[in-house]
Amino acid sequence: MDGNSDALTILLTGASGGIGSALAHTLATRGHRLLLQGRNKTALEQLCNSLPGQHRHQVLVADLCNRQQRATLVKTCSDLPGGLDVLINNAGIARFALLADTDDVAMQSILETNLLVPMALTRDLLPLLQCSHRGAVINIGSAFGHIGHPGFSIYGASKSGLHGFTEALRRELGDSQVKVHYLAPRAVDTSLNTEAVVGLNRALGNRSDSPQQVARQCVALLEGRRSARRFMGWPERLFIKVNALLPFLVDTALVKKMPVIRRFAEQNQVHGDMP
Ligand SMILES: NC(=O)c1ccc[n+]([C@@H]2O[C@H](COP(=O)([O-])OP(=O)(O)OC[C@H]3O[C@@H](n4cnc5c(N)ncnc54)[C@H](OP(=O)(O)O)[C@@H]3O)[C@@H](O)[C@H]2O)c1
Repeated sequence: MDGNSDALTILLTGASGGIGSALAHTLATRGHRLLLQGRNKTALEQLCNSLPGQHRHQVLVADLCNRQQRATLVKTCSDLPGGLDVLINNAGIARFALLADTDDVAMQSILETNLLVPMALTRDLLPLLQCSHRGAVINIGSAFGHIGHPGFSIYGASKSGLHGFTEALRRELGDSQVKVHYLAPRAVDTSLNTEAVVGLNRALGNRSDSPQQVARQCVALLEGRRSARRFMGWPERLFIKVNALLPFLVDTALVKKMPVIRRFAEQNQVHGDMP
């Protein structure tokens, strides 16, 4: 790998997205070899061509919700001559809507993409990761997985589930070489967030981070000595602790914001919201 003995081979899901692209640039700059996964071949190829050491990287087009395409992706990873070191479960979708306005299709698609897929992919790639002496999984969660937020009940449930999965797996693999990390960003400036979500965040005074800030936190996890979890943003980190200890305080604060949340949720309904 270009003579860099610290270089890792990393499968990055959702590489074409906002956080995925920033992560790809940060990781490629550090000399790692990337398997760039997504559904949009053109976007992935453009990304690949823009990365340092573009010849090291590979584009893997697959819809992760399609079992057959996922199996092909796993097979491609199994056939890599140098093996696979790291899986970053970053691909995800979101939907801002009240529960009453969420149909079965949306529910299933969010839970499948954000929770079932990372669990299945991790299981299927674990034998490969266990062959690496620097094997690691990084799951990208969300602050909404730790603070139940009105309008994001299904998305929050999917990320809450992802955190529970990560925590159990971290312990299950605690006596192995594979590290299991979890990163929960707050709002990030990407196209995952519709105009209504951006408007809601502005109205509620919620701050956001750049995808590059998320990428830096992710790399810090990767370069850390042990399995870890990180929550991004202040005061979000404090709110997460308050919510765990005194949830009724957060209930009261968020219930007061329901008229604003309802207004933006309605706006989202009108303008469409599945990015
Ligand atoms: N943006 C935020 O405010 C925020 C905050 C906290 C956490 N997060 C989490 O960060 C992660 C990345 O989000 P982002 O903001 O970068 O979103 P994004 O810009 O919308 O990118 C999402 C990525 O996921 C891929 N993807 C979605 N469904 C897929 C499927 N079925 N099969 C394969 N790939 C699929 C998309 O690929 P295509 O190009 O094929 O669509 C895209 O590359 C997500 O897990 C999200 O929940 C985001």
